[in-house]
Amino acid sequence: MSNLRLGVLASGRGSNFQAIIDEIESKRLNAEIVLLITDNPSAFAIERAKKHGIEYLVMRPKEYSSKDDYFIKIAEELKKRDVGLVVLAGFMRIVRKPLIDAFPNRIMNIHPALLPAFPGLHGQRQALEYGVKISGCTVHFVDEGMDTGPIIIQAAVPMFQDDTEDTLSERILRFEHKIYPEAIRLFSEGRIEVEGRMVSIKGYTLFDTIIVNPPA
Ligand code: GAR
Repeated sequence: MSNLRLGVLASGRGSNFQAIIDEIESKRLNAEIVLLITDNPSAFAIERAKKHGIEYLVMRPKEYSSKDDYFIKIAEELKKRDVGLVVLAGFMRIVRKPLIDAFPNRIMNIHPALLPAFPGLHGQRQALEYGVKISGCTVHFVDEGMDTGPIIIQAAVPMFQDDTEDTLSERILRFEHKIYPEAIRLFSEGRIEVEGRMVSIKGYTLFDTIIVNPPA
């Protein structure tokens, strides 16, 4: 079976991008990253792409006539390279309809909270300020809402009394790096089915989609 071709969109540091690269390079994930698109010319994700020989494009929204046009052009670049799954890895923009329609249930996002709680920016800070005792992270398919698409996998992450935004973010991030490649692996193996907003995974129980053990 040919490799799943991934297109990654990232705006910043790109540690999730790196986690996916590492899984591929260590042969635990049968996929290939064929393109990185970033909206931020100083994103560290670009350095990671260069280091690993991955093609990248800097596409800044202000250089396009409208938001829709921006996402039409992104979809074109991804289609040109025959991308089978689009991976948002810290891409800090709401994806618009033209891209979603071009890749129905083929765009994933990772969010640093247990959705539907705390969508949008600063999910970790929102959880701390709300006073929840368990937070986590969520991989979901992208729809037109903000972090509202069908949920694929979640990891529950404990919060401690002395947590700061930084300590909590760091703890959640370790789980992000585990569940994002895992969700992509399940997709690459054709094991994910979506009906409405219900995602079922062949060979998984419901409990398996909620990872509660700390990553090694
Ligand atoms: C990650 O924590 C990711 O969950 C979050 O941005 C960070 C990107 O880190 N995404 C969102 O908040 C999207 N709403 P990274 O660039 O090191 O992967």
